Amino acid sequence: MKYKEIWKTYGKVFDNNTFNYLNDLYNDKYIKEDLVLISEGKEAVVFRSGKVALKIYKIMSRSYKEQVKYIKLDPRIRRYPRSLIGLSYLWVKKEYMNLRRMYMNLVKVPIPYTYKGNILVMEYIGYDGVISLHNYYKNITDKSNFFYAILDEYKKIYNKAKLVHGDFSEYNIIIYNDIPYIIDVSQSIPVNSPSACILLERDIKNIHNISRKLSININYDDIKKYIGI
Ligand SMILES: Nc1ncnc2c1ncn2[C@@H]1O[C@H](COP(=O)(O)OP(=O)(O)O)[C@@H](O)[C@H]1O
Ligand SMILES: [Mg+2]
Repeated sequence: MKYKEIWKTYGKVFDNNTFNYLNDLYNDKYIKEDLVLISEGKEAVVFRSGKVALKIYKIMSRSYKEQVKYIKLDPRIRRYPRSLIGLSYLWVKKEYMNLRRMYMNLVKVPIPYTYKGNILVMEYIGYDGVISLHNYYKNITDKSNFFYAILDEYKKIYNKAKLVHGDFSEYNIIIYNDIPYIIDVSQSIPVNSPSACILLERDIKNIHNISRKLSININYDDIKKYIGI
């Protein structure tokens, strides 16, 4: 699909300026003319352009009130824009900043390139298609090694980037060259945030689920101990 056509298909769910942002990204050579749809979720649509992935946030997926509630979990953000569009832009900036903070601390995440309005631009992780851990279990030969590779990523997120991921699941781990990459970090918050504990417990629960699917004998508390909590 040419990016100019995206407007026709998705114009209703994106911000009015999305097309201009795509145009800017094209002129700045981040993307080529052709975009391939990878995923459409409740909040965002992800496209691929060569080695680049674009995550384009929809504007009306949450109400203003709801969006403020989510953004308030992050104590780094002290002032909120008054419009829903402004909040969406801030949310994208938050995901970019979190991705950068993880990338700088050597967490295996897509390289963050830039963000523009409601669009996050990052490295594309995949071959012709994208494989998430959810669809990958049967291909894993050394299950223990793989599990600890995932745990090591969380360890870096928590101890080096000092963030809690907040939505750490088998769907937000994608596999490339047998290596797990972590994605979807918009909701991540600093470890010392008032709500960090709740998000952390949920992440550990998800990690424990992953360990069960990989037949690794490790309990909830030992996962925490390994991460250093
Ligand atoms: N950098 C990327 N490279 C390849 N695929 C990606 C990338 N980022 C996201 N995706 C794909 O898009 C899907 C949705 O992205 P994600 O960031 O998880 O958003 P959400 O779950 O909020 O819709 C992912 O499950 C993955 O298939
Ligand atoms: Mg996701």
